[in-house]
Amino acid sequence: MKILVTGGAGYIGSHTCVELLNENYDVVVLDNLSNSSEESLTRVKNITEKSLEFYKADLLNKKQIATVFSEHKIDGVIHFAGLKAVGESVSIPLKYFHNNITGTLNLLAVMNDFNVKNIVFSSSATVYGDPASLPIKEEFPLSATNPYGRTKLMIEEILQDLYHSDKNWNIALLRYFNPIGAHKSGEIGEDPCGIPNNLVPYISQVAIGFLPWLSVFGNDYDTPDGTGVRDYIHVVDLALGHIKTLPKLFTNPGLLIYNLGTGSGYSVLEMIKGFEAASNKKIPYKIVDRRPGDIAACWADPAKAQEELGWKANKTLADMCKDTWNWQKKNPNGYLESL
Ligand code: NAD
Ligand code: UD1
Repeated sequence: MKILVTGGAGYIGSHTCVELLNENYDVVVLDNLSNSSEESLTRVKNITEKSLEFYKADLLNKKQIATVFSEHKIDGVIHFAGLKAVGESVSIPLKYFHNNITGTLNLLAVMNDFNVKNIVFSSSATVYGDPASLPIKEEFPLSATNPYGRTKLMIEEILQDLYHSDKNWNIALLRYFNPIGAHKSGEIGEDPCGIPNNLVPYISQVAIGFLPWLSVFGNDYDTPDGTGVRDYIHVVDLALGHIKTLPKLFTNPGLLIYNLGTGSGYSVLEMIKGFEAASNKKIPYKIVDRRPGDIAACWADPAKAQEELGWKANKTLADMCKDTWNWQKKNPNGYLESL
């Protein structure tokens, strides 16, 4: 089976490539490297001692996508490629709509032309907006609070319309909660550009000494310690969720929707403690105002994925912190040093 991984050089994509190769899938990666480095793929090959095909190509260029499909008999696509910074999406929404929506439309049109109708799409818990209750189930109402989230919601709707128009499509919408951690080798991990926006990459850069302290965005939420609560999931567990989805996708199930989360929430203060224990470093922090647009708490009900895919997240918070720290220590400047 040959899988095309769009965005395969990125954080979640590179971890998924490792697990795909471990399961003996043939892997073709398409990535424009706008938020990643080809070094991640070199390391994927080193970890697995297997090879993959890489195309430096852009989803905004239909010809480049078609070249990949004409040179390979693709059985299915895992579609990670997209821009993902929430704040940036608020300042430059057109870029986000163009890249994420037009890019996906181009991909789907080429897949249609080549009669490849199996796709796994990277959605996000952001499509639940501010949930009325917890844990979040797949049938909860959906909404978007920023342009990034709207691209996820719109692509989910586009894919559903496509399925309703042609039942030969098999489509899995995977709604990720908060991916963190890194491969246990410390060879691949999250390599944010500039100052990180997300909590764990930020903590990690405080621990290594690049940033002086962490701003904790609010301690007056209606949560046990007042700080925001999230469902952090180890990126390798998340990658394995894709591996469990593929065999199901190839049974012609039509439309599938799953939450990929652990089912447990941790607060910002708990994450700081977890990271301090893993790194043996003090993480200085200051309580500041809430970040606009943040919700108090968010965690998944992952039961559907367990029942239907036999998938469950197994790694603990200690694993997530330990593996993040291992990656950060081994690669203080991310992939930059190897280039
Ligand atoms: P990432 O930025 O590390 O990876 C995305 C990859 O897509 C990058 O390598 C980038 O170069 C590539 N890309 C972007 N636009 C492209 C285009 N037009 N053509 C070709 N390649 C393009 O991000 P990630 O964290 O690995 O996220 C992967 C997917 O999962 C994204 O769609 C993201 O929205 C989604 N997601 C991520 C998170 C998270 O917290 N990381 C949470 C929920 C959903
Ligand atoms: C963010 C995005 C969300 C996206 C998700 C995964 C926003 C508003 N939401 O979610 O759309 O799907 O990333 O990429 O950006 N925190 C701090 N200090 C920091 C950073 C974060 O206290 O410096 C807190 C936040 O207030 C939150 C928690 O840590 O309570 C997690 O934040 P973050 O890692 O940014 O993820 P989300 O806000 O869940």
